[in-house]
Parts: sequence; structure tokens; C-alpha cells
Amino acid sequence: MPNVTVIGAQWGDEGKGKIVDWLAARADVVVRFQGGHNAGHTLVVGGTTYKLSLLPSGIVTGTLSIIGNGVVLDPWALREEIARLEGQGISVTPENLMVADNCPLILPLHRELDGMREAAAGKGKIGTTGRGIGPAYEDKVGRRAIRVCDLAHLFTLDPMFDRLCVHHDALRAGFGEAPVDRAQLLADLTEVAPFVQRFAQPVWKRLREVRSEGSRILFEGAQGVLLDVDHGTYPFVTSSNTVSGTVASGSGLGPNAAGFVLGIVKAYTTRVGSGPFPTELEDEIGQRLGERGREFGTVTARKRRCGWFDAVLVRQTCALSGVTGIALTKLDVLDGFETIRICTGYRLNGREIDHLPASAVEQAALEPIYEEIEGWPGTTCGARRWADLPAQAIKYIRRIEELIETPVASVSTSPERDDTILVRNPFAD
Ligand code: GDP
Ligand code: IMO
Ligand code: MG
Repeated sequence: MPNVTVIGAQWGDEGKGKIVDWLAARADVVVRFQGGHNAGHTLVVGGTTYKLSLLPSGIVTGTLSIIGNGVVLDPWALREEIARLEGQGISVTPENLMVADNCPLILPLHRELDGMREAAAGKGKIGTTGRGIGPAYEDKVGRRAIRVCDLAHLFTLDPMFDRLCVHHDALRAGFGEAPVDRAQLLADLTEVAPFVQRFAQPVWKRLREVRSEGSRILFEGAQGVLLDVDHGTYPFVTSSNTVSGTVASGSGLGPNAAGFVLGIVKAYTTRVGSGPFPTELEDEIGQRLGERGREFGTVTARKRRCGWFDAVLVRQTCALSGVTGIALTKLDVLDGFETIRICTGYRLNGREIDHLPASAVEQAALEPIYEEIEGWPGTTCGARRWADLPAQAIKYIRRIEELIETPVASVSTSPERDDTILVRNPFAD
């Protein structure tokens, strides 16, 4: 039975939530394998909007949902998100949600440090979501993290708290802040522990069973490949690996578990936060894309920066993640444009190049080379068949496929679950 891995192939917010929701109805298990509640995935089902940050999108369809060890977990955010969903009539129980017992926790001290660093960096700030993601991953690799399994032994963890607090107190002192209030931290963790423990499991073991039963696993990536800590626009990235390869380490399955890798690609480009963005439009066209596409962050409500489609970037991210096929989203947002541009290469210091260089200095100096294609009359909004699309829109899609050297598996034409043109069902392969 094939598995499917969904990853963002740009800077996040490509519309992963909608596509994962569609696929979740055809999967037995949905697994988050990296990131945390910096993600904001929107699902629109029958007019109702669900916004998920930490919970796998399968929770809305009632599919078994798993938070893998590669995720950094804020227990209070988990509780709030579950309460919010229950308010929308979605029940979340240990039957349909499991959390890896080896997941590192995001603590209030991580969120505070994220804020202190960003405030101190001034113009050089990353523009993080302020959720404490970076500091929590740092503590994981620094071997200072408190993990889900530790919630069962809080009063015997003194040496671990020592290691954690020695480190954080030194940093906080540097920012002129008070040391960690250890008693408060312990009290807060003690209070939230039973809630999280209900869901804690050795997830790798459960996934192994699921796999041997021949069940279909859907891996739900967060962020996008251009935010990957190795392959993205470093240092303006998130602190996890967002490429498809992370499925293995972030869930506890082997490297052959990923199956069909579906890259989610917006028909234009957006980015939230700081960092290079070669095709950014700071004019009325960018404004129009933002308004038509409702480009405001799901998590922070920040305005997203908008620009033309960058085929160089997407060709690179598809290669980096071994993308089998893409889901092209938000085509309808381009309705009504007289002409549309696609970036096909860059000029750097007078030379033409065909990839994103690793250096931040060079990334900031890139000048896009565009080709222009005619827009289309009428609307693509709500189209569910190729026959519903204007000929020029099909031409745009075909040109993208050619430039990114990867086939289109589906096209999304509105936020609604069923407004999708399906070319190839990833689960049917
Ligand atoms: P994610 O982080 O990749 O899941 O994406 P977000 O949910 O943060 O942002 C994508 C936004 O676009 C959401 O508001 C979706 O409801 C919306 N969306 C998804 N697909 C389409 C589409 O094909 N057309 C339009 N107009 N909106 C879409
Ligand atoms: P989804 O899953 C878009 C960005 C932040 C910032 C950088 C680092 O909804 O696509 P962090 O808080 O992770 O340390 O911030 O990464 N970022 C996202 N941008 N979509 C996301 O998630 C993002 N998650 C983080 O804006 O630039
Ligand atoms: Mg999002």
C-alpha cells in the first residue's frame, strides 16, 4: 500500500492544509513529522473553516492522527487547539490522537527567548512566529530538552532542570532578564502533564504495526523547503528540516516510508517574515495578489509578501525533496491578470544562473529573469475539470510543469475541499 508525503515546495502557506484534508479522507493515518505550532493549516469543509497548527489535519476527517518525535510540542498550545476544535464539534481523544513520547517540549522559556532574540536583533530579525520553535530545537540538539516521556517523572528530574536552567539563565542574564522561575515551570508542567500523557505513545512502534497491516500513511509536512534549515534561505529559515527526507527521522520509520512525494506549490509566490525573495512585488500587482489570495498569516495574521511564480526555486525544491508530482494551488487568484510573469532564471553580478545560490549575500543580490505569458479571460474559480479551465490557464500550468521538470498531480481552484482538478491520485500509485 503506498504512502503519501505532502511537503510545501515554497516558503510555506502553499495550501497544504486543503490538500492534506482531501488526502486524509483516503488515508488510514496522518502523521506530522517536523515543525510545531508555527504552522497554520487551513481547511474549509462545507463552508466551515478549521485552522490547525499542531494537530495533523486528519483530525478533522476523524483519521488517526499522530504527532511524531520530529515535532516540538507546546503542551499548552496543544490543549488550547484541542479545546478550540472541540468547540467546532471535532472530538479529540487518545483513540484518534497519539503523541510521540520522545517529542521535545516547547516551554514558556523558549517562547520568551525567541522574543528576546528577535527584539534584540532589530532590523536583522528573522521574523519568527514567536512560538519558541528555534530555542526548543536548539535545546533538543543541545541535549537539554524536557520531553513528553519526562512528564511522568517531573519530581526526579532535578539534574535535567539544572542543565536546562544553567544554560537559559546565562542567556537571559545577557538580555538583562530575570532567571527562569523554576518553581513556576515545575508547577505549570505538573498541571499540564496528565493532559498530554493521555496521548503519549511509542509512536514508532504503532507506525510499524500500521505499516505491516498495509495501511495508508499520509505524512503532513509543515512550512516549506525554502524554510528548511539546511536547504532554505539560511538564516531566514525555520529550525527544522522541512524536506521529505525528514519523514524517516521525524516519525521513526525507515527512509523508504515516504512513498509518493506531493509538493504543494502556489501558482504565484508568498513569504512571511524577513529574507530574500527575488520575485517580490512591492507594487500594486503584489497588493492585488495579496488581496485576491487573502494573504494574511494563519498563525500571526501578518501580511504575506507576494510575487510572481519563481520556477527556479520550485525546480530546486522539487529536486531537494524528490517530488513525484505537485499540487498547484490558488490558480484562481491569477484570474483577471492581463499578463502573468514567470521567473525562469536569475542574473547575479552580470552572469546568468539557474539555481538559488547558498550565500545569503548572493541571494539578496539576485535579479529575476522573466518570461511573460498572456492572462486568461473569465474565471478558474471552482473548476473541477480541465474542460472548465480557459486555454491560457492550461498553457500556464503546462509551462510551469516544463520549467520545474515535475508533473502536476492536481490543481486547486478555491479553498473548498472539492474544488480540485485531479490528474493523478497519489494513493492510487
Ligand atoms: P498551508 O500552511 O500550506 O496549509 O496554507 P495556509 O492555510 O496557511 O494558507 C493557504 C490559504 O489559501 C488558506 O486560507 C486556504 O484556505 C487558501 N487556499 C487553499 N487553496 C486555495 C485555492 O486553490 N484557491 C484559493 N483562492 N484559496 C486557497
Ligand atoms: P505553514 O506550515 C510560512 C516562517 C516565519 C519566519 C521563519 C522562522 O503554515 O506553511 P519560526 O517561528 O519557525 O522560527 O520562524 O519561518 N514560518 C512560516 N512561514 N508558513 C509556515 O508554516 C511557517 N512557519 C514558520 O514566518 O520567517
Ligand atoms: Mg500556513
